[in-house]
Amino acid sequence: MLLLTIESSCDETSAAVVRDGRQVLSNVIASQVDVHALYGGVVPELASRKHLEAVTVVIDDALRQAGVGLEAIEGMAVTRGPGLIGALLVGLSVAKAMAVALEIPLVGVHHMEGHILAPLLENDIAFPYLALAVSGGHTHLYRVDGIGRYRTLGRTLDDAAGEAFDKVSKLLGLGYPGGAVIDRLAAEGNPRAFDFPRPLLKKPNYDFSFSGIKTALLYYVQGQNGPIEGTHLCDVAASFQQAVIEVLCEKTLRAARDTGLNRIVVAGGVACNKGLRRLMGERAALDGFQVFFPSPSLCADNAAMLGVAGDAYLAGGCAADQDLNAKASWPL
Ligand code: KG4
Ligand code: ZN
Repeated sequence: MLLLTIESSCDETSAAVVRDGRQVLSNVIASQVDVHALYGGVVPELASRKHLEAVTVVIDDALRQAGVGLEAIEGMAVTRGPGLIGALLVGLSVAKAMAVALEIPLVGVHHMEGHILAPLLENDIAFPYLALAVSGGHTHLYRVDGIGRYRTLGRTLDDAAGEAFDKVSKLLGLGYPGGAVIDRLAAEGNPRAFDFPRPLLKKPNYDFSFSGIKTALLYYVQGQNGPIEGTHLCDVAASFQQAVIEVLCEKTLRAARDTGLNRIVVAGGVACNKGLRRLMGERAALDGFQVFFPSPSLCADNAAMLGVAGDAYLAGGCAADQDLNAKASWPL
């Protein structure tokens, strides 16, 4: 089945063309990050307006890059939630209108479902597998038994991992969003320079907590006489990142050992992090686990990731009707 998919849950407007839930023919992403950077975070009203401006442009681009016309599209999938309600409604309304006009079926997909199935666009991964979903709004460990069959094993009790990167970046005067810039600085710094806490590391569960690392860093910054710069800044970034990624790796590998799931997927924007990719790869290899990280364009918010679940649901006759509505909060 040839699907057109649309994602607009936060600050990226994306459209993709995906064949049979596996082959990405195009995946166009228009980022609004420059607009929100001026305000130090995503401004929901601005996000909705920017989605409105971009949505038809990215759809046209996705079709052009895939080399297909609208008449070839056999179904549609759109992010239904969770996310910013105004932002979600832009993608959802366009998808509903197009599905009616083209007389093709449409299905609403959970944003995190998109993330944790994204690696199937690049690899054949047998179910069941363990998925660590790390983004700006989520840090969850899921057992994935199949498409539509997920069980939450653990989750963050406070900040999401990406949120911690973004808040720490702001504290260090590095702007928004913070993940990529901290990742870059960390590569030049000493991860053992400062001993930031590893919350819940020894607790025998799969839950996470990141706000304590951020607070420890805040106190450290407040205790300095001048700005943190140069090598000092790189060392702080590297030590913070090390604390976050050690907890992510340790808890994920513990879950893998306890559940016997020896295939691990790491997905979401934070899965772009080079330190996390390296450490998880090294530690998982010691246990003989296989780890799958999507390519960076499939880690961050994108529409192609919706194609996997979208195709399976539509093939199973699970199409939405015109009552389909967005859900700002929606557990998987
Ligand atoms: O999945 P995503 O694009 O959007 C959400 O669904 O939230 O994730 C965005 C998050 C942001 O918090 C951003 O700072 C973080 O992913 N991020 C990173 C990196 N690139 C993006 N965090 C750590 N290292 C990176 N290289
Ligand atoms: Zn996301």
